[in-house]
Amino acid sequence: LVLILDYGSQYTHLITRRIRKLSLFSLCISGTSSLKAISDLNPRVIILSGGPHSVHSENSPCFPDGFVEYVEKNGVFVLGICYGLQLIVQKLGGDVRVGEKQEYGRMEIEVVERENGGLFGNRCLGDKQVVWMSHGDETVKLPEGFRVAARSQQGSVAAIENRDRRFFGLQYHPEVTHSPEGMETLRYFLFDVCGVVADWKMEDVLEEEIKVITGMVGPEDHVICALSGGVDSTVAATLVHKAIGERLHCVFVDNGLLRYKERERVMETFQSDLHLPVTCVDATEQFLTELKGVVDPEKKRKIIGREFINIFDSFAHKLETKLGKKPIYLVQGTLYPDVIESCPPPGSGRTHSHTIKSHHNVGGLPKDMKLKLVEPLKLLFKDEVRDLGRILNVPEAFLKRHPFPGPGLAVRVLGDVTEGNALEILRQVDEIFIQSIKEAGLYDSIWQAFAVFLPIRSVGVQGDQRTHSHVVALRAVTSQDGMTADWYNFEHKFLDGVARKICNSVRGVNRVVQDITSKPPSTIEWE
Ligand code: XMP
Repeated sequence: LVLILDYGSQYTHLITRRIRKLSLFSLCISGTSSLKAISDLNPRVIILSGGPHSVHSENSPCFPDGFVEYVEKNGVFVLGICYGLQLIVQKLGGDVRVGEKQEYGRMEIEVVERENGGLFGNRCLGDKQVVWMSHGDETVKLPEGFRVAARSQQGSVAAIENRDRRFFGLQYHPEVTHSPEGMETLRYFLFDVCGVVADWKMEDVLEEEIKVITGMVGPEDHVICALSGGVDSTVAATLVHKAIGERLHCVFVDNGLLRYKERERVMETFQSDLHLPVTCVDATEQFLTELKGVVDPEKKRKIIGREFINIFDSFAHKLETKLGKKPIYLVQGTLYPDVIESCPPPGSGRTHSHTIKSHHNVGGLPKDMKLKLVEPLKLLFKDEVRDLGRILNVPEAFLKRHPFPGPGLAVRVLGDVTEGNALEILRQVDEIFIQSIKEAGLYDSIWQAFAVFLPIRSVGVQGDQRTHSHVVALRAVTSQDGMTADWYNFEHKFLDGVARKICNSVRGVNRVVQDITSKPPSTIEWE
């Protein structure tokens, strides 16, 4: 195990992901975790992450007492990155001060120590490297026994090592792509310096998770799962199904706010491809009745959340009557970033993302159901969930689907969703847009693309007649994680073709506009 102790850097997740890409199992826990929490994981290598603090500021986070003795006694290798390097220097008897020249951004470093077993023993890498720096403090005195392994072009310490004590440090961030040789440096450090073996495979994760699920869910216990049609809940349910078979009971709710033929398409995947035991509840009328006349975006979301809970509740009760016993477990597709973010280190400035999620997931679940959670994806990142989905035979096209919000088209029809045939118009426009994107081979380069129905009319001329019809907007964005986004720059010819097709084939639309705002200041969805 390669264990990351998180001191709040925005790049900490990236370190974990990069290491997993090397087929090494890596976990990230708070940098202030207890010695017991650390030693229980029995890591071979510990990486101390960067962070926004100065080692001299009050309450700056640090590894626990006894940490240095523990790693030395157990032969654990330690690599400090940025703040992590400064922690090593300060705690092992050196000195860190506010730097005269702060170093931010791209910078050249020169390697001064190139011995086998050291950070830069890798002869494939140059004596000079471009790296990404981001620090105000600098090392002014090394702890005894340490050597400088590289210096920045300004002469400050860029890398340190004490091979005998197995302590190493990089002042720059090897995990970001702005450090082009950073990944190779990490690879060399882990495999050649620390001697770890690449043995983490998705097949093993699958086997391990099945063991965990069968160990947790008793042979008579039943499990329920709400399928949203998204990748996470689908992969989680498929995995649990593989472990406990027909004792899993899934429900998919058609709330009348789904995309064109969405219900048929996802049910086909669930049933024909994945053989999941799933009940489809058509609750269109129930949702649309409750949403009639509601224009406030937050109210719409709350109503949708509440109705979803009601339906889920009644699904669980019906199941209880049928089985003669209560289902006691609930499958959730929680991912690793949610788990890490739910306990951010003090002062990291990161938010408690479970709060964000409960708003994002369709309203959460009834509190009084007291279901125990099965979260088989909670140690995985999104791209790893896709890899796992592939092993579980989830179709590739399904795994690559763009994200779709829980409240569905309700956040894409501005205002009252039941007004006229807004939902029907939106479905048709959206389908034309998405199919055109697929035909142009652009779908996989876009994070999310969709159409928005605007509750306004504009004047047009179609045939020989003046029309007073609806305006629709097209939105397509690129993004890494949905937190920030850029608008996607289509070729004019493509946009021209899509706009023509929409106005020619969707009744009630005579104008198409494109949304060209990034996030921030906009959000990806319009409501
Ligand atoms: P925004 O609009 O906040 O969206 O920039 C960021 C990402 O989250 C999705 N989204 C949601 N997903 N329930 C969800 O499951 C929701 O209520 C919800 N609202 C937004 C959005 O589609 C984008 O991918």
